[in-house]
Amino acid sequence: MKTVFSGVQPTGNLTIGNYLGAFKNWRDLQDENRCIFCVVDLHSLTVRNNPEDLKNNSKNIIMLYMAAGIDPEKSIIYLQSNVSAHANLSWVLSCYTYIGELSRMTQFKEKSENSDNINNGLFSYPVLMAADILLYGTDFVPVGEDQKQHVELCREIAIRFNNIYGKTFTVPEILIQSKLATRIKGLQNPTKKMSKSSKDKNDTIFLLDTEKDIISKIKKAVTDSDTRIYFDKETKPGISNLLTMYATITNKSIEESEKDFSDKTYGQFKKDLIEVVLNEIIPLQNKFNELKNSIDYVNNIIENNAKKAIEIANKNLENVYKKVGLL
Ligand code: TYM
Repeated sequence: MKTVFSGVQPTGNLTIGNYLGAFKNWRDLQDENRCIFCVVDLHSLTVRNNPEDLKNNSKNIIMLYMAAGIDPEKSIIYLQSNVSAHANLSWVLSCYTYIGELSRMTQFKEKSENSDNINNGLFSYPVLMAADILLYGTDFVPVGEDQKQHVELCREIAIRFNNIYGKTFTVPEILIQSKLATRIKGLQNPTKKMSKSSKDKNDTIFLLDTEKDIISKIKKAVTDSDTRIYFDKETKPGISNLLTMYATITNKSIEESEKDFSDKTYGQFKKDLIEVVLNEIIPLQNKFNELKNSIDYVNNIIENNAKKAIEIANKNLENVYKKVGLL
């Protein structure tokens, strides 16, 4: 059985990009792999959060994982900060990661732009991510395309460590599950990734948006001056992004999706897209709300799953400590 590990940050509310690019597909991996899905709350400290919001967002993600079909009896779902081995291994790995490597990370560069809080955590963020992954002997890391560079750095660190101390870490591979949704773009800025922190509230569909807001955001999504519906990222980034969302949710190819709308107007296309998005999101929200009403059950899951994670993580951490000469 292969091990699959992934995580989502509880910074802000999750977007439809997080869902389509990542955890929508995780439930399909559960039957044939040992799956571990983390809420990476320590990573979220790299930006300033209201502590109450952070707590709520962390729990919300656990419930969204479950609402999306991740079964806490089959997979381990837990909070990163509940397993201290992540921070411990991160320190060790930071001594095997070069400043030059971290300086090249595009996410660090992007996040540092126009920021007055370029802290050390933001810089060494990929080391903690490597610790998350390596702690569990991970074979596959299902993530969106924006995380590719971080997984590649994780591989470098693992190989470097193994070369010095002998085989210690499994060298993980990135798993891009959906060829289409690896980078959902903003609805108002379709050349940029849809992000939790976009300043324009119409740019991002949040998973917990109301039906009214989802309809209004899709209606307002930018298109382009031409009236035909086809995929061309360069000349039609808005329509291409909406087609990508449509195709991902309906499991159709881009070509099939283009055909569905070959003789339709932008208005008709958006109407159909709204229906498809709502059919996907509203049942997820309903399950989420059911779980919210059973918070004791959810708390129990968080506690029990953390115990399972701690057991695996501590064993691997101990092995690393031994290799480097820590008593
Ligand atoms: P985060 O929280 O930014 O995003 C969570 C997942 O959602 C994907 N994603 C997207 N996919 C498509 N289109 C988008 N617009 C979009 N926005 C986000 C991301 O690729 C990711 O898969 N560093 C990670 C969290 C992390 C992690 C890990 C992941 C920490 N440790 C270990 C895997 C393994 C992050 O910030 O994801």
